Amino acid sequence: MLAIGCDHAGFTLKNEILSYLEKKNIPYRDFGAYSDDSCHFPFYASLVASAVQKNECERGILICGTGIGMSIAANKFKGIRAALCMDEYQARMAKRHNNANILVLAGRITPKDTAFEIIDIWLNENYLEGKYETRNGLIRRIEEGGSMSGTNYMDMAFVFDHPLIQHKISIMRDKNTNTKEFRELVKEVSTLMGYEVTRELPLEEIEVETPIAKTTVKVLSGKNVGFVPILRAGLGMVDGLLTLIPTAKIGHIGLYRDHETLQPVEYYCKLPEDAHDRMIILLDPMLATGGSASAAIGFLKQRGVKNIKLMSIIAAPQGIQKVHKDHPDVNIYCACVDQTLNDNAYIVPGLGDAGDRLFGTK
Ligand code: PRP
Ligand code: URA
Repeated sequence: MLAIGCDHAGFTLKNEILSYLEKKNIPYRDFGAYSDDSCHFPFYASLVASAVQKNECERGILICGTGIGMSIAANKFKGIRAALCMDEYQARMAKRHNNANILVLAGRITPKDTAFEIIDIWLNENYLEGKYETRNGLIRRIEEGGSMSGTNYMDMAFVFDHPLIQHKISIMRDKNTNTKEFRELVKEVSTLMGYEVTRELPLEEIEVETPIAKTTVKVLSGKNVGFVPILRAGLGMVDGLLTLIPTAKIGHIGLYRDHETLQPVEYYCKLPEDAHDRMIILLDPMLATGGSASAAIGFLKQRGVKNIKLMSIIAAPQGIQKVHKDHPDVNIYCACVDQTLNDNAYIVPGLGDAGDRLFGTK
C-alpha cells in the first residue's frame, strides 16, 4: 500500500498519479490535500511519513511545488528516507543506494510522464543492501542522537577517541605493564567501548508501576545480543561487555594465525543456537592484517548471522581496509588506528602479542 499526499502546488500532479496508480492496480491511500486551495505542506508530509513510519503503508509519495519542503519535513521523521527525484537516474539511486521509503516529486517542475517513469523505477528497483547498509546504518546513528563517536576512519571504522579510553590504552602499550594490570585494562576499555557499540540495540516498551504512578518505560527487547570472542585474545574483552549486558549469550571462535603463512586457521566454533536472531559483537583486541577478523565474520555469516559488529582495541590501517572490503556491511569499532604492520604482521607501535600479554604466556 502506497501513502500519497500533496499540498496545493502538488495537487494536479497527485491527481494524475492517482489515475496512473489505479490503471496499474497499485493500491494507495490518499492523505490529501483534496483541493488546490492554499495549505501547509508539513501537515500532509506528517500524515504520509507517520503512515510509513508505523508500517501502515509500505512506502509513500509526497508532492509539493519544488519537492523541497516536503523532503525536509518528511526527513524529520525517524526511519524516513525521503528522496526528491527529478529524473530516472535519481529514482534508481534513491532505491538502490538509499532505500528511500518516500519518493518526493516536484509538482511545478516535473511533467507527469516523467513522474510516472520515476515512480515505476523507484517501485521496481532493489536496494543494494550489502553495499550501502553501512552508510544507512550511519544515518540511523545520527537519528538515534549518537555522534559518530570520535573520529570516523576514512568512512570505514569508528575510532573511539574518548580520553579515558586513550589513557588506558597508553598504559596497556607499555611493555612494563604486567599481566594483571593488562587484563584489567582490556576489561575496562571493553566496557567503555561497549557502551557505544551497543547504541543500536532495540528497545521495547513495558509497563511498570513506580511508587507514584503507572508508566511506560523502555527496556532492551528479547533476544538481542551475543558476544563472540576470537580465541584466545578476544576472551579478555568478554567480561567488560558482560558488565554492561550480563544476560548476553557468548559464542566462541577459535582461530590462530599460521606463523608461516600468516593465514587464519579455524580450530573451534560454538555459537548460541539463535545467533542468527541476535546482534553479534565479534571481539578481538588486535586487528592486524584483518585475516582473522574477516575469516571469523565469514564463519558467522555461513551460520546465518546477519547483524555483525567487530570490536577491536588497536587496529592497523591494513586490517580495517581488509575487513571493510570483504564485509562492507559490518561496522568496525576500534580505539586506535596505529601506523602500520611490521614484517611479522605485528601492529606498530601496537602493544605486542595481546594473547601472550593477557594470559602471561611469554
Ligand atoms: C592475534 C590476535 C588476532 C590476530 C590478529 O591472534 O588476537 O586474533 O592475531 O591478526 P590478523 O588481523 O593479522 O589476523 P593470534 O593468532 O596471535 O592468537 P592468540 O589470540 O591465541 O594469541
Ligand atoms: N596479534 C597481536 O596480538 N598483536 C599484533 O600486533 C598483531 C596480531
